[in-house]
Amino acid sequence: MCKKLSVREDYDRSAVYYDRRYARIQFLKYNMLSHYLIGRDLLFDLGCGTALILKLKKLGKLRYIGVDISVMMVKMALKRRHFYKDFIIGDVEFLPLRGGVAELISAFTVLQNLEEPAYFINEIRRILTGGGLLVLSVLKKNLSLNRLKTILEENKFIIKRFIEKSDSEDLGLIISSI
Ligand SMILES: C[S@@+](CC[C@H](N)C(=O)[O-])C[C@H]1O[C@@H](n2cnc3c(N)ncnc32)[C@H](O)[C@@H]1O
Repeated sequence: MCKKLSVREDYDRSAVYYDRRYARIQFLKYNMLSHYLIGRDLLFDLGCGTALILKLKKLGKLRYIGVDISVMMVKMALKRRHFYKDFIIGDVEFLPLRGGVAELISAFTVLQNLEEPAYFINEIRRILTGGGLLVLSVLKKNLSLNRLKTILEENKFIIKRFIEKSDSEDLGLIISSI
């Protein structure tokens, strides 16, 4: 089976207990990077999962669009209360979105699931507006930072900050498009 299908099936299976099992570690990442999500109008959250991030009170009235490949994760996300939320079931490597629609994108702990991160970064390049911001969190344990940096540079992204905390399993990257 191709990696994408097995990833989707794994997350479909884990959707019902995802929050119980992962909320605590995901919140360490959200809190580490939330500063960059506040005060904006609309967030595109790629690989949104159960949209756990919407439990972060400080997001306030941020309109939210989540994209995820797992139907079951999105079903759980739909139950979450938020004044404006919308979801797309789709593949972050081939986004069903027109170009230049996003000023702010987040992707928390998604990269490790992808076979070809370059497709994902190309898609972000396509949908992000000039001057837009990408807030990325990537698992430190299987991170190929040099490769990621190369892909980002090829797409004319600038890494503005690396954010690391010892209690978070992810490294945070604040990335802007030119
Ligand atoms: C570790 S979870 C993180 C979920 C969420 N970002 C969070 O902070 O809880 C990874 C998510 O990425 C999604 N995912 C994996 N590969 C994907 C793809 N190619 N396109 C869209 N979503 C994908 C999975 O379905 C899963 O919901």
